[in-house]
Amino acid sequence: MFEEGRELKAKLGADKVCDFTLGNPDLEPPPRFKEALAAAVQDPRPGLHAYMPNAGLPETRRALAEHLGRVHQLPFGADDLILTVGAAGALNVILKTILDPGDEVVVLAPYFVEYLTYVDNHGGVAKVAETDENFQIDLNRLAAALGPKTRAVIINSPNNPTGQVYEAATLAELGRLLAAHSARQGRPVYLVADEPYRRIVYDNLPVPSIFAAYPDTVLATSFSKDLSIPGERLGYAAVSPRASGRSELAGGMVLANRILGFVNAPALMQRVVVDLTEVCVDIAPYARRREIFCQILQQSGYEFFQPKGAFYLFPKAPGGDDLAFVALLKEENILAVPGRGFGRAGHFRLAFCVPEAVIERAAPGFARAFKRLG
Ligand SMILES: Cc1ncc(COP(=O)(O)O)c(C=O)c1O
Repeated sequence: MFEEGRELKAKLGADKVCDFTLGNPDLEPPPRFKEALAAAVQDPRPGLHAYMPNAGLPETRRALAEHLGRVHQLPFGADDLILTVGAAGALNVILKTILDPGDEVVVLAPYFVEYLTYVDNHGGVAKVAETDENFQIDLNRLAAALGPKTRAVIINSPNNPTGQVYEAATLAELGRLLAAHSARQGRPVYLVADEPYRRIVYDNLPVPSIFAAYPDTVLATSFSKDLSIPGERLGYAAVSPRASGRSELAGGMVLANRILGFVNAPALMQRVVVDLTEVCVDIAPYARRREIFCQILQQSGYEFFQPKGAFYLFPKAPGGDDLAFVALLKEENILAVPGRGFGRAGHFRLAFCVPEAVIERAAPGFARAFKRLG
């Protein structure tokens, strides 16, 4: 998609193409990030660019443990956290630690497509469970996907690509389901919560604590969206203080960070974020774009779920064939991603981390494409 978009932009001019394919935040990092970065660069102390413990800088781990303690009301310690190369690094570190070859990992469709490759990276087998028509967890389907080899379930809320946020009651039921399955199997099924969009939510919606729902939970997250710094590659994994095998799990993850070749997460960024654990980019522009985009799609007749969080829309493809519809949009110089790439054909994804003007410019094209196939 990325290459096709580049070609089309080279042919027609970038201002003629409305590209909604990439979840690459376009907002500048908050001013406090830039100030902290400037200060970190000027810091005269020696040794700041050296190797460090594989888990990361102790002061950054402590600051993040305090942050998690405040958010989740649980006694996180610095040793529960491992600084990683983005949420992607955290997911790989977690899966490397918990999976034996042939272990199964349940992922919920529609899913962030990389989950399939990450599970495969570590000898695991992904089992897909569909969410319901509102993209909420379907506990019956999830239960049906659990088996004797299930080692983990990955959930992602706020969700890419759907924008859904899971409710506390659903998470509590999920917790009960996993606890019962773990007890039957005699080993824990880990709940891996991928939460890089936790702070990108609209209408002040609270995002329930996943740690409250289930003890054997491991968090994967990052600063990529919060601080709008995905290229700087900083994230972390955190083990619940209530997890069985808490310290073995954390120890395994430290080793995994090393032997996967990450060694440690970027040092400069770890020093920058140490005082920014409560800072987030101003999400007002995302909220405005969400409003405008939803209005445009609604006026043209599209069926879609209004995202509660993250910065994606996942409408139904008029006519039902997502590939055909995405091709039709391309004729209007609008680029979108077919839903089948996320495990749900018949939909398409639009990322609204692009300027409002691009969204507004695409309105007539969306209307024309709908009329042709709607
Ligand atoms: C659901 C989800 N998980 C993980 C990631 C990876 O995040 P990071 O860039 O912090 O590695 C992304 C990136 O878009 C994502 O959408």
